[in-house]
Amino acid sequence: MKKRDPSRLPRWQEWAVYVSFGLLIATGIVWLVLENFVRVDGQFGPEPHPAEHWLLVAHGLVAYAFLIVAGTMVPVHIILGWNARRNLKSGLAFAGTLLLLALTALGLYYLGDDVLRSRFSTIHWALGLVALPLLAIHALRGRGRAVTIRRPRK
Ligand code: HEM
Ligand code: HEM
Repeated sequence: MKKRDPSRLPRWQEWAVYVSFGLLIATGIVWLVLENFVRVDGQFGPEPHPAEHWLLVAHGLVAYAFLIVAGTMVPVHIILGWNARRNLKSGLAFAGTLLLLALTALGLYYLGDDVLRSRFSTIHWALGLVALPLLAIHALRGRGRAVTIRRPRK
């Protein structure tokens, strides 16, 4: 079997990012489609599709898992890339977008004002859609760029 470049993420960690982020995007996009284009007949006229609720439950659950996975990137992956100045711009852009996603998500939970909440909602899902190409660019640009570890000065 071909040996994996040691500067790359372990396979489990790389796939944990793709699977958890993929589920986050998928549940977010299906919710958007149902919310904007689908209504079902209810007792008092058209109402949101019942799956919308469960999609948000799934999205919230996966968000917890994804943030744990993203947290595991800090101690080695990000520190190594930072010290070696490799893939730094796209890494910072992606990490910054994740931070804003997490912050706007808090707004979705706790903002009482409907107008403000709806603004946060738009910013949240727009950032979510931007995050996908950012991750793709980051992962693809990183390919083949071996990271050399600088020893700290004594
Ligand atoms: C300042 C922040 C970051 C820096 C400097 C950075 C650096 C790097 C580098 C150097 C590579 C190429 C590794 C190689 O092929 O040798 C890479 C790839 C990758 N990064 Fe990052 N990264 C950052 C943030 C993140 C974050 C927050 C995530 C996900 C939550 C992430 C996920 C990935 C993935 C999935 C790959 C492709 C798999 C791989 O090549 O190992 N990165 N990153
Ligand atoms: C760090 C990543 C993310 C976190 C922590 C996160 C978290 C959350 C949370 C906590 C909610 C509120 C759920 C509820 O009201 O029950 C939410 C809603 C939502 N998220 Fe995310 N999310 C993330 C990424 C994404 C991505 C990548 C998309 C892609 C499109 C997305 C789209 C949405 C949508 C459409 C909603 C519903 C907005 C609304 O209720 O008005 N999210 N998210």
